[in-house]
Amino acid sequence: MAQPAYEIDEMISAKSIAARIEALAREIKSTFDGTDKLIVVGLLRGSFVFIADLVRELDLPVEVDFLEASSYGDSTESSREVRILKDLRGEIAGRDVLVVEDIVDTGFTLSHVVALLKTRGPKRLETIALLDKPSRREIDIRATWTGFEIPDEFVVGYGIDYAQRNRNLPYIGAVRFTGGAA
Ligand code: PRP
Repeated sequence: MAQPAYEIDEMISAKSIAARIEALAREIKSTFDGTDKLIVVGLLRGSFVFIADLVRELDLPVEVDFLEASSYGDSTESSREVRILKDLRGEIAGRDVLVVEDIVDTGFTLSHVVALLKTRGPKRLETIALLDKPSRREIDIRATWTGFEIPDEFVVGYGIDYAQRNRNLPYIGAVRFTGGAA
């Protein structure tokens, strides 16, 4: 299927993201200081770049696990039905858990995942989102830590896709549709 033509304008530079992650990692360390192990759960696929950079800044014993939840598929609109496509490999009962999300938009994905994981009895469960679009929220949820609040623009890069493309950009960019088909 032909995609509309678009260009990408840098919104948040790789340098700004790195600086913010350093600060967030310090806050997470002080919250979970003394933990025997923090289970860092990345929500696939969008968080794969963020979690990779975040765990390397985290001065704590960590275990990394992944969960795949999808509400958008290849569409730009949330289906509001969150499907678990891949569950965690490990147990989280009685453990410290940090859920890592790339972006909170309507809030459906994060609220669904948090509700699901809480049924498994973690000792403590906190959340972090690199990006937050509060103007799009339909479910009243906010991550414990947010990297950047952004306006309601279609963003790509640093793990985030448009129809599965542009996840490999090292920065966050805003998609600007230019008319016509690509
Ligand atoms: C995107 C994004 C978040 C979610 C946020 O995932 O990665 O997980 O949507 O939207 P929400 O707050 O409206 O639920 P997507 O389903 O596109 O999967 P992906 O991570 O594999 O790109």
